[in-house]
Amino acid sequence: MLRTHTLGQIGPKMIGQRLIVAGWAHTIRDHGGVLFIDLRDRSGLLQLVFRDERLGQEAKSVGLEFVLQAEGTLQGRPSGTENPDLPTGSVELVVDRFKILNTSKPPPFPISSKTIEAGEETRLKYRYLDLRRPKMTRAMEARHEFCQAVRSVLNREKFWEIETPILTKSTPEGARDFLVPCRMMPGNFYALPQSPQIFKQMLMVSGMDRYYQIARCFRDEDLRADRQPEFTQIDLEMSFVDTPDVMDLVEGLVAESLDKAFGVKLKLPFERLGFEEVMSRYQTDKPDLRFRAYERRRLNEFFQGTQFKVFSSALNNGKVIAGLTIPQAASTVSRSELDRSVELAKALGAQGLIWMKIAQGAIESPVEKFLSAQEKERLLSITRPNDLLLICAEEPNMADRVLKELQKRLAGLLNHKPDTTFAFCWVQGFPLLEYLPENKRWQATHNPFTAPMDEDVPLLKEAPHKVRSKQYDLVMNGVELGSGSIRNHTRSLQEKLFSLMGYEAAEAQERFGWMLDALEHGAPPHGGIALGVDRLVALMLGEESIREVIAFPKTQRGTCPFSGAPSSVDAKQLKELGIKLAG
Ligand code: AMO
Repeated sequence: MLRTHTLGQIGPKMIGQRLIVAGWAHTIRDHGGVLFIDLRDRSGLLQLVFRDERLGQEAKSVGLEFVLQAEGTLQGRPSGTENPDLPTGSVELVVDRFKILNTSKPPPFPISSKTIEAGEETRLKYRYLDLRRPKMTRAMEARHEFCQAVRSVLNREKFWEIETPILTKSTPEGARDFLVPCRMMPGNFYALPQSPQIFKQMLMVSGMDRYYQIARCFRDEDLRADRQPEFTQIDLEMSFVDTPDVMDLVEGLVAESLDKAFGVKLKLPFERLGFEEVMSRYQTDKPDLRFRAYERRRLNEFFQGTQFKVFSSALNNGKVIAGLTIPQAASTVSRSELDRSVELAKALGAQGLIWMKIAQGAIESPVEKFLSAQEKERLLSITRPNDLLLICAEEPNMADRVLKELQKRLAGLLNHKPDTTFAFCWVQGFPLLEYLPENKRWQATHNPFTAPMDEDVPLLKEAPHKVRSKQYDLVMNGVELGSGSIRNHTRSLQEKLFSLMGYEAAEAQERFGWMLDALEHGAPPHGGIALGVDRLVALMLGEESIREVIAFPKTQRGTCPFSGAPSSVDAKQLKELGIKLAG
């Protein structure tokens, strides 16, 4: 071994011991001829002191990020020079032998600084250096701890970890597939799995009873801060269960794993809310229950036939008028802050934002003069004096996104304390199907394997829109962390749903025959869920983007600046695959 200890192990109890350590030169300081180097490994930092003049001279050739081995005696730091922010801040290694194991070019961005100014392309191009930054190293450690905790709980609960294929056939999760050409069967393609959905269901048919996998999934969709083209799920499936069984298990799993990995204590059970209820109270199926007093609602009804052009044209163009009430904020939020909120809304892509300060029986707003007495009365009926009402008339997704961001921003500015730091809840009772008028067919709102609620099955024929599903989503702080369902375990019900979804019997057989056939061979009742690992870890670490907790993520454009993927391939390779490029 090139070292006797890792740096994080070292502490005041070891004062007086001889140690050999190794790591990277994190910072270098020359204090009146005595050289200090903070040595770093993934577990921490240790201050090296070069008191010996000859050694000190030699060590002057050390540059930042050089790889060093150092031997010496551990001593307490002279009083007044301790660093209380570091676990090793009260000790230092007085070096009497050291060796440069490797040199380093100057890093393109500082590794030691807490903030980083380098752009994302640079960070990802030099990801191996970016990951050396203590914050990134901690994120990798937290992710590891979390996954290990999940494994230990699921192993204890008698789940088996089973791998499912990566080269497979299209699985319907609603995104585009990544395709892989098959050399031995030119013109044929594998699809990378959007999730292990069908295989995990097949494992239940096989009698595996309880399966899990920390599974990589691939989806060719537009990327956002919380979406990557490849991402990781805790994917699990259980036999002989119904909805509450899966929820109970997952709550226990999440609570225990988050406690082990992040020391977070959660109160169980999580709230279980109905889809209709959350939609009417929060206008979203991903409610942020940290701020219950911040009501969001659609105001379309209030403005039917309005004279105010912004609202009338929005309603004529199928947009929504979405409102966010910020309680007791009218007197505290300044005019310039409101202007900044309008700018933020525009920067997010909205045409604008309307604000209204509610007073006793009156409304103060730049658009007040365009509102009828009745409209004002309606707004006053849903607010209290001193509330601030923000209104965004946009496409539903845009309106919700803008109001969500403003809620976050203003809650921060107003120093409104959340009711709790981590607000988990379940949402269930989603509609099973949604109608696609342009295709004249129904589409599964979750995935086509989700079962309808037993009592709604008779409605499938007459009123498919009224059928509720056995889907359940796990939501935290307004983010969907996981989604799952109880599945159809009989061929007849699954076929009925495929036919509502517009698949001819032959097409259903061609696409899903392998699965339908299995359902005829003694498939047990089963259900499961998948939780997004990247999203969960990012939220726990307070990161805005899941890229901060993925070792080698893709950019917003889906590229990997480090490896250069995706890249063109040479003509010979294409020929072997029987592929000709169109342009
Ligand atoms: P679903 O498609 O809802 O369900 O995905 C489950 C969870 O995976 C995470 N997730 C993502 N994370 C990062 N980048 C993405 N592009 C991305 N897409 C999804 C989310 C989401 O809640 N087979 C079903 C699960 C089941 O029914 O058991 C499925 O994949 O956190």
